[in-house]
Amino acid sequence: MRWFPITLPAPRRWLSALCLVCVVGAASLGASCHPMRAEAETAPSKVVYLTFDDGPNPLWTPYVLDILRREHVQATFFVLGFRAQKYPWLVRRIHREGHEIGNHGYYHTYIVDQNQRWVEAQVRRADAAIEAACGVRPMYFRPPGGILNPNNVRAVRKLGHPIAMWTVDTNDWRATKAQPIVRVVERDTRPGSIILMHDGIDTSSRYTVQALPQVIHYLKQHGYTFAILPEHYRGTRLGVPTAQGRPTQAKRAAHSAH
Ligand code: NI
Repeated sequence: MRWFPITLPAPRRWLSALCLVCVVGAASLGASCHPMRAEAETAPSKVVYLTFDDGPNPLWTPYVLDILRREHVQATFFVLGFRAQKYPWLVRRIHREGHEIGNHGYYHTYIVDQNQRWVEAQVRRADAAIEAACGVRPMYFRPPGGILNPNNVRAVRKLGHPIAMWTVDTNDWRATKAQPIVRVVERDTRPGSIILMHDGIDTSSRYTVQALPQVIHYLKQHGYTFAILPEHYRGTRLGVPTAQGRPTQAKRAAHSAH
């Protein structure tokens, strides 16, 4: 099957960035009962969204949650359905502590390789696992690897999920130390950025955990506030993945293996 990397030409990227700012503004106005959203109202232009993929992981997710709680930061966790089923108490803790939970598929299978019926079935299965764990159906879907084709988009949209990509890729899933993760955030973050990190990778999430306090402190020092992805978003897609084109076989193997 032909690959369909979700990339936009430069002018449309600007447009989607503008739309994101509008969405953030609308969401912060519409949900002032949420403490982090109330905070975002004071400086809507400097909101940033932290996202953590591929968990929950019994070793690393609790560390991420401890740091977020200590720093009073909310984030969005794109969990895998089979892990939500295996570690429902972690899903409940993520939810209880005010974070958003998104659907990252049941298994970490690249959905471009699959037919529409299969995609729908596995998105539903992950929805059910998350809802069984914490009582809430996730709103956003993020495809494993950030890769999807127009048929996948239709299948996911049919199930009522907007698609959430990212705009800052920390590449933490293949990190061998913490500092490069921090440097990417310092270099690439802009108002409205959606930052991609991972709490669910056995081999590298330790470095995400090490980097996270520095990431948060840097962003706070530069006037950023933190929010979960907009609750009232009804468009098709947030963000654009930074990984462009077809991933190499090595990257696919590494990222699918966990
Ligand atoms: Ni992933």
